[in-house]
Amino acid sequence: MAIKTLTLVGGISRNSLNKKYFRSIQELSIPHFEFETFDISKLPFFSQDLEMDPPDIVSEFKDLIREAQAVLFISPEYNRSFPGVLKNAIDWGSRPYGQNLWNRKPAALLGASPGAIGTFGAQHHLRQVMAYLNMSVLGQPEMYFNASHAFDEQDRLTNEKTKELLLQYFAAFEEWIRLVGERTEDREDLYPSEGLEDSPMTH
Ligand SMILES: Cc1cc2nc3c(=O)[nH]c(=O)nc-3n(C[C@H](O)[C@H](O)[C@H](O)COP(=O)(O)O)c2cc1C
Repeated sequence: MAIKTLTLVGGISRNSLNKKYFRSIQELSIPHFEFETFDISKLPFFSQDLEMDPPDIVSEFKDLIREAQAVLFISPEYNRSFPGVLKNAIDWGSRPYGQNLWNRKPAALLGASPGAIGTFGAQHHLRQVMAYLNMSVLGQPEMYFNASHAFDEQDRLTNEKTKELLLQYFAAFEEWIRLVGERTEDREDLYPSEGLEDSPMTH
């Protein structure tokens, strides 16, 4: 059975490199993965005024998170972090308090940038948020992508090495999803599905 993987792309512009990256990943027909996506630009700005009775588009988004067996973020780098539009989507999924839908989701992250460090800064900020939300984030391999000359006129990846690395990356992610599933299955005491009441455990 293919792993239902909700993929959120943090680039929302028409010619987004990260959208091209995602399309290329879909075209690779990676074994055992079924990618679903959601256009995060359709979400309103998060407000606590709306969280108890959110607009339909938010409920639709939350249903996709609930149904997902895994989550993949593909994010550009904005000012050494990830774009606000992606943070907005993540915030919606984390609320209201005590109903964090990201909790325990096996997750991975990728990103494309025309810059030399290939979204290193974005990914590391994003990891901080994912860890707080108790997502089970793949630690290794990391993959940073300088995509300045990566696509041809048909928006296809030109470098066979990139495709090869992506296949390796998803093989590791698949193994991680299996391991994490086994680890958390029967440990409601350690990994409560509704999240911890008090976090962090300071005293
Ligand atoms: C507000 C803003 C900040 C940016 N900051 C960075 C940055 O810190 N590092 C980087 O490599 N590229 C940076 N860029 C360039 C983006 O990586 C580039 O525009 C990229 O194509 C955006 O992703 P997208 O094409 O998927 O929308 C920035 C672009 C914008 C608009």
